[in-house]
Amino acid sequence: MTAGSSQGGERISPGRKIVLADNNKMHMETVIAKDDFASAGEASSRVKKTLTMLGVSPALIKRISVAMYEAEINAFIHGGGGMAYTDVYPDRVEILIEDQGKGIEDIELAMQEGYSTATEEVQMLGFGAGMGLPNMKNNADELTIDSHPGEGTKVWMRFDISI
Ligand SMILES: Nc1ncnc2c1ncn2[C@@H]1O[C@H](COP(=O)(O)OP(=O)(O)OP(=O)(O)O)[C@@H](O)[C@H]1O
Ligand SMILES: [Mg+2]
Repeated sequence: MTAGSSQGGERISPGRKIVLADNNKMHMETVIAKDDFASAGEASSRVKKTLTMLGVSPALIKRISVAMYEAEINAFIHGGGGMAYTDVYPDRVEILIEDQGKGIEDIELAMQEGYSTATEEVQMLGFGAGMGLPNMKNNADELTIDSHPGEGTKVWMRFDISI
């Protein structure tokens, strides 16, 4: 048996661990629970484990986990919980985090480093530096935010996998 082969046929090409065929994708969904600090960060942690298993490079995994964690925590803290959807394609990872919370009044303002509406209580827990959205922008290859006051927020990110 040569390196990278498996019984029942070639599934993994040498030097490349991602097993998804060209038009396949892997889909993952995680609930971002409301008011449950114990499970905050679970969605990004699950995705991190899966990407590690798939052989995505550690540097890219780090960018994805950082950005996804920030979006997930925002949905938890500011949006009252929501859902995280992740699609892994052979050439990219797409992540959608959505909530039905209060929404963002002024997205441009919210994107500025240091801007935060976090309450004192939330700040005591170590959040509220106003760095989450800038961090997402710096780490993602593409970031789209769709938010409407009173309706909720959708944060969509794309990360390219270079082969
Ligand atoms: N999902 C969301 N729902 C409602 N408002 C949001 C949401 N995400 C971000 N915001 C608004 O945008 C602001 C900036 O978000 P950002 O993540 O940059 O900072 P933060 O969450 O306040 O602090 P940090 O992420 O550094 O802990 C928030 O304080 C909040 O007012
Ligand atoms: Mg934040």
